[in-house]
This record gives sequence, C-alpha cells and structure tokens, in this order.
Amino acid sequence: MLHQRTFGQLSRNLAIRASTTVPAVTANCAVTASWRTHRSNYTAAKHAQLGSWRREHGNTVFFSTAAFGVGILLATLYQVNDESTSSLVSQPHYAGRSGMLDAAQKIASLLGEDMITYDTDVLEHHGHSDWSTANSEGRAVAVVFPRSTEDVCVIARVCNDYNVPMVPFGAGSSVEGNFSQPHSGICVDTSFMDKVIAFHPDDMDVVVQPGVNWMDLNAEIAASGLFAPMDPSPTATVGGMVSTNCSGTNAMRYGTMKDWVLNLTVVLPDGSIVKTRRRPRKTSAGYNLTSLFVGAEGTLGIVTEVTLKLAPLPQDTSVAAVSFPTIKAAAAAASYLIRSSGVQLAALEIMDDVQMRVLNQHGSATVRKRRWAEKPTLFLKFSGTTDAINSDLKRVRDSLTSFTSEPFQTASTKQEEHDIWAARKEALFTMLSIRPEGTQLWSTDVAVPLSRLAEIIDLSKSECGQLGIFASVVGHVGDGNFHVAMFYDPNDVEQTAKVAKAVKNMTDRALKMDGTVSGEHAIGIGKKKSLRDELGPETISLMQKLKLAVDPKWLMNPGKVFSHP
Ligand SMILES: Cc1cc2nc3c(=O)[nH]c(=O)nc-3n(C[C@H](O)[C@H](O)[C@H](O)COP(=O)(O)OP(=O)(O)OC[C@H]3O[C@@H](n4cnc5c(N)ncnc54)[C@H](O)[C@@H]3O)c2cc1C
Ligand SMILES: *[C@@H]1O[C@H](CO)[C@@H](O)[C@H](O)[C@H]1NC(C)=O
Ligand SMILES: *[C@@H]1O[C@H](CO)[C@@H](O)[C@H](O)[C@H]1NC(C)=O
Ligand SMILES: *[C@@H]1O[C@H](CO)[C@@H](O)[C@H](O)[C@H]1NC(C)=O
Ligand SMILES: *[C@@H]1O[C@H](CO)[C@@H](O)[C@H](O)[C@H]1NC(C)=O
Ligand SMILES: *[C@@H]1O[C@H](CO)[C@@H](O)[C@H](O)[C@H]1NC(C)=O
Repeated sequence: MLHQRTFGQLSRNLAIRASTTVPAVTANCAVTASWRTHRSNYTAAKHAQLGSWRREHGNTVFFSTAAFGVGILLATLYQVNDESTSSLVSQPHYAGRSGMLDAAQKIASLLGEDMITYDTDVLEHHGHSDWSTANSEGRAVAVVFPRSTEDVCVIARVCNDYNVPMVPFGAGSSVEGNFSQPHSGICVDTSFMDKVIAFHPDDMDVVVQPGVNWMDLNAEIAASGLFAPMDPSPTATVGGMVSTNCSGTNAMRYGTMKDWVLNLTVVLPDGSIVKTRRRPRKTSAGYNLTSLFVGAEGTLGIVTEVTLKLAPLPQDTSVAAVSFPTIKAAAAAASYLIRSSGVQLAALEIMDDVQMRVLNQHGSATVRKRRWAEKPTLFLKFSGTTDAINSDLKRVRDSLTSFTSEPFQTASTKQEEHDIWAARKEALFTMLSIRPEGTQLWSTDVAVPLSRLAEIIDLSKSECGQLGIFASVVGHVGDGNFHVAMFYDPNDVEQTAKVAKAVKNMTDRALKMDGTVSGEHAIGIGKKKSLRDELGPETISLMQKLKLAVDPKWLMNPGKVFSHP
C-alpha cells in the first residue's frame, strides 16, 4: 500500500512541501525548478498509482468512497437551489451511485482499464483541497484520464447516456470549490493531455492540450523569444486557466487569460465537438463562442485543445520593493504610479505588514536573505529595453519620495531581482506552511475600481483585526484586485461564522464600490450567492438559459457558478 500513501501524501502535502523547498522564482515568468520537480513527481506518482491499482485490482472495482445516497444528493441540490423560480425545465435527474459506476465501467471497457481509477486516495485528492474553504462532502465515483479529444468524446457520450455529472480537473489549484463534486459523478482529469500540438512562432501562437502546465510551456518555447504571459499558481494547467479566466502578477501589463485565447476545441456534454473559430488574431465572424467557454469553470463543456496567443519576451526586466507607513499610503502611492507617473509598470503588487512578518519568520532561505521591513510593501516589476527600465526606475524612485521615506530597494543583479520577486511569489505558500494544526485557510479575492482600493483594504483589515482573525493581504494592486487569507478553526462554530461574515462583508463592500466579488478566482461553490448579488436575477437567468442550451441535462460540473433554475 506504499504507493497509495505516497500518492495521498504527495497531494495533501503539495502545498506545504512547496513552501519548505520553495524556490527559485525568476522575475520574468516565475519558473520554479522545484515546482517542476513536484509536478513530475506528482505525475510519476500518478502513473505508478494507476499501474499498481491495475495490477492489484484487475477488473474488480474497488469501492471505498464515502457512501452517500441519491437522497442526500437531491437534498443538497434543492438546498443550494437559491436561484430563479422559473419552472421551464424539471430538475436534473442523475444516476445513482451504481449507475455512475456502470458508466465508469463502460468507459473503462471503451478506453481501457488503465484510463480510470477508483482509488480512494485519488478520489480524495480530486475532491478536496487545502487551498480552499468550501470543500464539499461529495466525491466522484471514479477519475478518468483521457489522452485525446476523442477519448473525451467517449467519456461525454457515456456520461450523457447514463445521466452522470462530469467534473473537469486540471491541476486542482483553483480556490473556490470549482472542481469539487457535490453531486458526485465522474472526474475528468486532463493531466495526461499534456502535449504541445503545434507551435507557430511566426504567427506567435501555440496549440496545446489542456493539461499542459504554463511554466513547462514557457520553458519549452523560451528559445523562440515568445511566452504565454499569464502566471497563476505554478502548478496550473492551460485548461484550468482558460476555465477560470485566470490572471496573475503579469495581468497589469498583459490583461487576463481571455485576451490570450484565440480558439478552443470543446467537447460538449453530449459528446459533440465544437471548434470555436480559426487561428487568425482577429475575426468578426459570428458570436464569440470562445468567450463563452473562457471563465465557464467547466460548466459548459470540456476544453480539449487551446490555441494561445503568445507575447514577445521583453528584452530586459527589473524589480523594486518599497515599504510604507500604512496600507493607505501604499495604496495611494500605487494609484499615483498607475495614473500619473507616466511609467507603464509590468506588475504592481502589494503585501501587508502581516504578510511581510510571515516572510521574515518563515520564508524560504532566498527570501530571508534580506531583512524585510514589516510594513505594507509594494513590489514593482519593470520590463522593456534596459535603457527604458533605468529611466523608469529613476522616475518611480523620485516620485515615491512624497509617499514614503523608506528606502527604494532595487536589484543590481539578476540574482537579486529573482530574490526580491520570490518574496511576492512565495507569499501564499508561506502562509499555508504556517497554518496551525487543525485550522483552515480561507482565501478570498475581490476587485474594485482603483480609486476605492485603499479604502476597501483598510476597512477589511481593520474588521479582521477587530474580530481577532489572523489575516494577511496580498494584492494585484495594479488591477484593483486583492486577496485576504485568513486562518480559522472549522470546528469552532463561532470563529467560522465570524470569518464567513467578514468575507461576506468584504464582497458586499466591493459591490457597493461598484466592484466584483471575484477578481480572478472565479465563483465555484463559494461565491454563488455573491455572484447573484453582483449581476442580478435577469443576468443569472440568461446564463442559466445559455447553459441549458449547451447542457440540457445539466451534467457539466453541476452545482458551480449558479444552480439549476
Ligand atoms: C499558490 C497559488 C497562487 C495562485 N495565484 C493566482 C493568481 O495570481 N491569479 C489567478 O488568477 N489565480 C491564481 N491562483 C488560482 C489558480 O491557480 C487558477 O484559478 C488556475 O487557473 C487554476 O488552474 P488549474 O489547472 O489548477 O484548474 P483546476 O483547479 O483543476 O480547475 C479550475 C476549474 O476549471 C475547470 N476545468 C479544468 N480543466 C478544464 C477543462 N479542460 N475543460 C473545462 N473545464 C476545466 C474545473 O472543473 C474547475 O471548475 C492561485 C492558486 C494557488 C494555489
Ligand atoms: C474550492 O475548491 C476546493 C476543492 O474542492 C474546495 O475545498 C473549496 O471549498 C472550494 N471553495 C469554495 C469556496 O467552494
Ligand atoms: C481552431 O481552428 C481550427 C480551424 O481552423 C481547428 O482545426 C482547430 O482544431 C481549432 N482548435 C484549436 C484549439 O486550435
Ligand atoms: C472573443 O473572446 C475571446 C476570449 O474571451 C477574446 O480574446 C476575443 O478578443 C473576443 N473576440 C471578439 C471579436 O470579441
Ligand atoms: C475575464 O476577465 C476580464 C478581467 O476581469 C473580464 O473583463 C472579462 O469579462 C472576463 N471574461 C470572461 C469571458 O469571463
Ligand atoms: C459586517 O458589516 C456590518 C455592517 O457594516 C458590521 O456591523 C459588522 O460588524 C461586520 N461584521 C463583521 C463580522 O465584520
């Protein structure tokens, strides 16, 4: 059983081990060698796992997931059904556990036994995440590992015939309950769909399978002088990134994922294949179906191929860090830099005093080389030609003197550049690594118009302070987007309620400021109610109608974004 434990540990400890070994993060696209190792260990473990599972169990199915009946499923379904009262369609009707297992066996008979697993640890890993808060009780009955669009078609056709929910899974780094399986079903893991299908350097695009990791891709094409600029979790896959419309620190300069997706191949819930468009950089041919699937969180279909636009790598980059007496002063300086400094920054990130203290005490050796001021700190990235960067640095340094008297720390070598940016990149892992036993991390993100950023961060921090919650703020301040990470004990009802209320207050506040309840982490399960508050019933109803048109049996990733009408 050693292999099983290894797999379980790997997945459970992924976060924690990452923080201890963390890493080499290069300033321009955060290529962490150790993360790559984690990923290949992980994939190797997956192979080993599947292999031994097959040897040990042959064709007999190994059932040991937490049992729960159709009754509970339906109860959950009705309970979460807080949306429209429209009764145009009846409630979705899903197969029971044994029907789901029949479907799984049918898939195995069509694709091969080595494409599927029922192993408890694997199911657990695919249904639960330490990153997040709203882990649902449900687990898939099986995880399938397709290799191609055709494999995915087979899976979809069988699930459609047997009325079985399908939940796509990339790297599982998303944080809003997205890939969890409240209605059970079959989990479709794309990690073996990890091929680069075609690279067109002259057209500045690349066609990939959804399981390709963005850092692997960038390493592979680096020699061409091109790169895919979105930088979410180092583990994330292109399929997951498309489906959450992700971003990252580079978004200030490069926009979000939606700007980089040219064309998608998607398998719909009935097994049909849709190609959203062709490859040229622009088109005005018909409805924009690409954008229908970007950010859909796997609720409309399974993305099986992606054509990504690529950007030229900047000739040079540099970074700087500077701290401020208060978060308000830091945010004010940030908005000055964006609006009035005349410098186009590549990235502008903020970390609060709590997060800086955590880094000083628990950061990796790289980060602790430097003694950080335990004050709100801005991290700036510059890119372009070396000359332009030098003049930008000077201009920014001069303009910041009216906001802070703290030193403006710049990098004089590439190593220093890497070390400074590592502090920002390691923030989340470091937070996770100090999580006290028995507590969970609740991480949430909202975005507001720039002019309101200082105010909302300030209010949210003081509210957490009053509640006695350990909370840190990390933000993509250049986009008016910030994250709050809070620790709480899930067994402490009172504390859990407080944290939930603080999050609710934060999203309500963001909406009052004309902001959004999710800047980049998407909706999943956790923010369904907030999405409704943000968009209103008519908009949600249109989304529901669109989903019903594409997915009439409501099989794709049910329970996410919004409920069945
Ligand atoms: C340390 C850390 C840092 C992060 N930083 C950022 C950040 O800076 N910016 C940011 O935007 N996010 C960030 N994230 C969140 C996360 O990395 C992104 O949401 C990422 O896009 C998820 O990719 P994934 O491959 O892990 O997807 P998963 O979590 O596996 O899946 C995400 C969603 O997409 C669906 N899905 C997956 N594959 C497919 C497919 N092929 N077809 C259809 N649907 C699919 C899933 O069902 C699910 O709903 C961070 C997360 C962590 C842990
Ligand atoms: C995000 O996904 C993880 C994995 O299932 C889950 O634990 C977490 O609860 C989800 N978050 C929310 C808010 O639903
Ligand atoms: C994009 O469009 C072409 C048609 O020109 C199609 O053959 C291809 O499969 C589509 N999908 C992707 C992901 O490129
Ligand atoms: C269509 O949507 C994609 C993805 O969101 C986007 O990149 C593209 O610019 C859009 N195209 C048009 C013509 O609006
Ligand atoms: C993706 O995110 C951007 C920036 O938040 C937003 O403007 C856009 O509407 C989103 N697109 C989709 C298809 O979700
Ligand atoms: C949430 O906001 C309300 C109203 O502004 C306030 O009274 C309350 O104390 C806040 N609750 C928490 C948990 O912060």
